Amino acid sequence: MRVEPSSTQAIPAVAEVPRHVAIIMDGNGRWATRRFLPRVAGHQRGAEAVREAVRTCVERGIEYLTLFAFSSENWRRPAEEVAVLMQLFRMVLEQEVAKLHVNGVRLKVVGDLSRFDTRIVELIRRGEARTARNRRLTLTICANYGGRWDVVQATHRMLTDRPELATSFTEADLAPYLAMAHAPEPDLFIRTGGEQRISNFLIWQLAYTELYFTDTYWPDFDGRTLDEAIASYRRRERRFGQTSEQVREGRRAAQALPGAVTPLPDA
Ligand code: IPE
Ligand code: IPE
Ligand code: MG
Repeated sequence: MRVEPSSTQAIPAVAEVPRHVAIIMDGNGRWATRRFLPRVAGHQRGAEAVREAVRTCVERGIEYLTLFAFSSENWRRPAEEVAVLMQLFRMVLEQEVAKLHVNGVRLKVVGDLSRFDTRIVELIRRGEARTARNRRLTLTICANYGGRWDVVQATHRMLTDRPELATSFTEADLAPYLAMAHAPEPDLFIRTGGEQRISNFLIWQLAYTELYFTDTYWPDFDGRTLDEAIASYRRRERRFGQTSEQVREGRRAAQALPGAVTPLPDA
């Protein structure tokens, strides 16, 4: 598998529209509570907001959308809420894969799938296989995912494959084993629901991602919320450790040679 350049190994090209948007879809419960509805109603509306997010990303030309659906810590919730979330995940997989496929969306599900029931795992595998050749948008759902789980599972798999690396390995050795190896690092991170934390999301991949927090609850997320986040992203200067002057010089060079990635000088 070809692994995308790492932001700590090379300076990525920066486009006007983020190539990869990663979202913590938070605030479903509070959205429902505010309306005197059970939390599950918020999750149901949240699933509809996912549809809207996928559609908008396709329209805006975003290549990768990654959504945090269930964290490795969400098992701590009441059993009934976990059961509802699993049921909803299963229904979404049953109902949406065909539509994703028609719309050219490639589906990926990443996380520790060993705790899901076999029906869900089967739906995931079938959905991924069916959509594997689609290229308009790659939709990655993080389910029973945790950033720390990811780093540990990647290290474990790498050392199983290549035991000779036990005493010394590099970022580049580990990269192909990370759960998000199929995608470039996120350019833009969005968290809805007002909290300003990462909650064990893509801790490795967010190293140089631009962070955007909004009070909007996930069920209310729409094209306008996404456009506001993109507008904020466009106002940022992504320096990747360099100075402003170097960034401007790099941009001039990139205009002359589109798609160029500037390698870091040897240390
Ligand atoms: C996010 O919404 C959905 C999941 C974590 C599955 P929440 O359920 O966390 O909603 P709040 O934060 O309680 O409002
Ligand atoms: C993060 O939201 C996980 C998902 C959105 C799936 P949480 O609601 O679980 O995060 P905390 O507990 O408030 O940090
Ligand atoms: Mg929450």
